[in-house]
Amino acid sequence: MKVNILKGFADVCPPEITLWHHIEETAKRHFFLYGYEEIRLPIVESTELFYRGIGEGTDIVEKEMYTFADKAGRSLTLRPEGTASAVRCYIENQLYNRPSPQKYYYHGPMFRYERPQRGRQRQFYQIGCEAFGVAHPALDAEMIAMINRILLELGLDNLQIEINSIGCSKCRPNYKSNLIAFFGDRLSSLCSDCNRRYVTNPLRIMDCKVPKCIENTKGAPLIRDYLCSDCSEHYRALKGILEHYPINFIENPKLVRGLDYYTRTIFEITTENLGAQKAVAAGGRYDGLVEQFGGPQTAAVGFAMGMERLVELLKNQSNNTPPKARIFVATLGAEAERASFGISEELRSAGIQVSLNYGHSSLKNQLRKADRLNATHVLIIGEEEVSSGMYNWKDLSNGQQGQSRLQDFINLVR
Ligand code: HAM
Repeated sequence: MKVNILKGFADVCPPEITLWHHIEETAKRHFFLYGYEEIRLPIVESTELFYRGIGEGTDIVEKEMYTFADKAGRSLTLRPEGTASAVRCYIENQLYNRPSPQKYYYHGPMFRYERPQRGRQRQFYQIGCEAFGVAHPALDAEMIAMINRILLELGLDNLQIEINSIGCSKCRPNYKSNLIAFFGDRLSSLCSDCNRRYVTNPLRIMDCKVPKCIENTKGAPLIRDYLCSDCSEHYRALKGILEHYPINFIENPKLVRGLDYYTRTIFEITTENLGAQKAVAAGGRYDGLVEQFGGPQTAAVGFAMGMERLVELLKNQSNNTPPKARIFVATLGAEAERASFGISEELRSAGIQVSLNYGHSSLKNQLRKADRLNATHVLIIGEEEVSSGMYNWKDLSNGQQGQSRLQDFINLVR
């Protein structure tokens, strides 16, 4: 019987995997430039970590977690995101003893039992960063600038950076009670999810995508009018620094996030090209989470970007990966074949991908094979080439042909 992949899960195969590598390499190169180091976190954690970290009233914890009991009866969960694990790791390994700020990145699969649709899977991949130890908004701005650079370098310039501040434990309760008062007599016009959110997490009503809920947020109190003076100053300074970079951003006073740990800065990088799932990256500050998990009081800010959404955007773009030479080495005769092994190794030492014919066939067949393998160039070796050290080559992209020494050929294709 044929066994199929689960709904909401996906294999990633060539040629698409090239786009994944390109995104991962671009992101990692920038993480290095901005001083982020890798941490590798487990995929399975105690369920309690997410209950306490993400928050019991959130959609993720209430409806979307893959939770199961292990053989010893412990409740375990496939991680739905990386921040809670990163904070646990930070405390458990006493990373706070390292020089501040401590900047980390991670990547890997996350799991949420959501209704699968375009841009939304049950297993999806994130690349994320978490930076600890700095409360100043210069770190928030630097993070947003780094994401912006990564996305620009990937050729994604049709994106919007939305920011907001959702205050702190001093000012948010007052805002929350005003929201509750505002929506109190509108509950019958809100969707069933928002009726639940009204009790568990009223801020989330503000970014519900159901049209009747959007209609009902008109005239609702906005958090920016309730920020305490510290949060207000933090937000003002953030905007000033972003302008200095300069980074184009828009303020979205209704932006809220689906996880409870955020304080002050929140942001989303959005696109109109992915249908309903607009966010390609999102994050914010969570100054209380380390302490809440039993660590020292530590300011922190982080983000994660969704790999599948970035891949989907890149797929619709021509020239979406840097051009790389792929050489097919064609041989004529036994002596040339023997020489081809050493020549291929020289090409590989120069960082160039090489394919061989593996056995004899006519030149015509070898050229056909090179074409099917999507080679950019063919290097043709016959007996004469072996003795003279001058090789014939053909550029398959434009049909150009020539004769060169191996080193000149390497310089040419590089
Ligand atoms: P999040 O907004 O839940 O935040 O997810 C971040 C990104 O992951 C989204 O913007 C989206 O691109 C991608 N994503 C989320 N869910 C799915 C899904 N079901 N299918 C495909 N892609 C998805 C977080 O996870 C926070 N931990 C981010 C953060 C880090 N905040 C502070 N530090």
